[in-house]
Amino acid sequence: MIIAIDGPAGSGKSTIAKLVALELGFEYLDTGAMYRMVTLRLVNKKISLEDIRSIEKELKNMKIDILNNRFFLNNVDVTDEIRTPIVSENVSKVAKIKEIRYKMVELQREISKSKNTILDGRDIGTVVFPNADLKVFLVASSEERANRRVKEFLSKGIDTDFQTVLAEIIKRDEMDSTRKESPLIQAEDAVLIDTSFMTIEEVSREIINLVNKRI
Ligand code: CDP
Repeated sequence: MIIAIDGPAGSGKSTIAKLVALELGFEYLDTGAMYRMVTLRLVNKKISLEDIRSIEKELKNMKIDILNNRFFLNNVDVTDEIRTPIVSENVSKVAKIKEIRYKMVELQREISKSKNTILDGRDIGTVVFPNADLKVFLVASSEERANRRVKEFLSKGIDTDFQTVLAEIIKRDEMDSTRKESPLIQAEDAVLIDTSFMTIEEVSREIINLVNKRI
């Protein structure tokens, strides 16, 4: 069984997907983290996003492993590094590149093969798994999403402010929604859940109810 959770930045996808995976005994795949890993690599190696040949070479030399929700890039644990502002600022530019998307989608399908998996991202229900058993599109107001992100940063000891985070989220949504390759869009058959005034438990309960209805 495949559950696809899509939605804009900070709508609660990863928190909810992790919880639902745990309750249902499913695997969880955070596809955003994969685009973040590629971004980290390209930023560190100072590779221009126009230089498709070098990007393709990097993609070949990049080994992405995910173990117990920790992310390894060529055997180095980059779980914390992929959440830093430099990666967040650049990830949507990287995720526009079709050669990168092609490779990531291939990997995502491979990782989820013959396993009950819940995936979160932007194009899971539209492109990666158009035949997913359940598709959910999570949304929340930009202010609420920025608030959540600020709290998340603070809990990790990262100093930030509301306006900066809000501007970054709005800019990323705009880029993700308007790009040519696999834009962020609600699949026709996805269930829309507005999480602005819902607790994490309420959202995950609603998704589990939807899964139970489909079994
Ligand atoms: O957690 P947050 O909402 O901040 O974003 P994320 O899920 O970590 O994704 C980071 C970025 O990767 C997004 O803003 C998209 O540009 C890109 N992405 C994508 O294009 N397709 C996906 N399936 C997942 C993420």
